[in-house]
Amino acid sequence: MNSIKSELIVKIGAIIDPSRNKSLHDSNAIKHIGIDDESKTVILIIEVGVKNNEFTSQITRAIAKIVKLEYKFNGLTIEYEQARPDAIKKQVKVLGIASGKGGVGKSTVTANLAFALTSLGKKVGIVDADIYGANLPKIFDLDDVELDGDDSGKIYPIKKDGIELVSTAFLMDPNKALMWRGPMLGKLLKVFFEETIWNPDLDYLLIDLPPGTGDVMMDVKNFVPDVKLLLITTPHPSASHIAIKAGFGALELKEEVIGVIENMSYFEVDGVRHPIFGQGGGKTVAEKLGVPFIGQIPIARPVSGHHSIYSQTEYIGILYINLARNIMQLMA
Ligand SMILES: Nc1ncnc2c1ncn2[C@@H]1O[C@H](COP(=O)(O)OP(=O)(O)OP(=O)(O)O)[C@@H](O)[C@H]1O
Ligand SMILES: [Mg+2]
Repeated sequence: MNSIKSELIVKIGAIIDPSRNKSLHDSNAIKHIGIDDESKTVILIIEVGVKNNEFTSQITRAIAKIVKLEYKFNGLTIEYEQARPDAIKKQVKVLGIASGKGGVGKSTVTANLAFALTSLGKKVGIVDADIYGANLPKIFDLDDVELDGDDSGKIYPIKKDGIELVSTAFLMDPNKALMWRGPMLGKLLKVFFEETIWNPDLDYLLIDLPPGTGDVMMDVKNFVPDVKLLLITTPHPSASHIAIKAGFGALELKEEVIGVIENMSYFEVDGVRHPIFGQGGGKTVAEKLGVPFIGQIPIARPVSGHHSIYSQTEYIGILYINLARNIMQLMA
């Protein structure tokens, strides 16, 4: 049977993926091949450049010809997977940061996690995908940014403190009406994922998602099918119940939710913790979704004097380093 498998790999490998104009062999697209002897069925997982019916049914027909007509198998099961764009290399771990509710600290957590991961020796990029309230440029003190591009029209991310950043704010006319922004998002994501010249050695790509419960995440998944999700909530039920919705939405899309961070958990005065926004939101979200509760972040202004970034010698900065360590493990 093994020799039949090898023969099938060679024959199927010669089939051209029309979306890539390359053979399945040359694009290393056969991710799995199995033969079920009892039912005489061949089971395949194939990666394609573009997963749409026109292309995949063409490939299915060509494979069926080999498997069923030539090799006389009774059954054929093929699962197609969308490949990542070339700009986002395989080793890059892509993490969407979502909350459901706005204003709970997604952008602040994204930026501080990026600093923490960088200080742990990782190369980090950030996509600010918040079309309505992109504020990462503010957090990184980037005003009036002009993006550089290469001759083919691709753009370079902005580099700040060793972190690479692209933002909807760099590409959008801030005076454009909100109603235009929805349809625009797909185009912007295409720029970020396919037409941006990211550092080829990137380890992590963090995506600051807009508030909401999933449509943008679905768009992101079209580009990076194996994107994972981190949920941010406050302890308050008004935030946690929307975070739960966002989490279930993601799980329905078969996205892995790596865990939950509770932000604004308490305010500490003289060693006494005051739960300003109540208690338990983060744990509830994690329990309901059956995912790890990664940790809490108290309410505090950065001692550093910066408006959003905690220095890595102050309490919350150290906390972020520990959160980053946990996240690295959860994404390993
Ligand atoms: N732990 C914290 N302690 C004190 N202030 C915080 C904390 N986390 C966030 N903030 C502040 O709360 C506000 C909202 O945070 P942030 O912009 O990060 O939230 P967001 O979820 O990204 O919001 P949006 O939905 O608008 O994008 C900001 O002014 C930020 O500086
Ligand atoms: Mg934000």
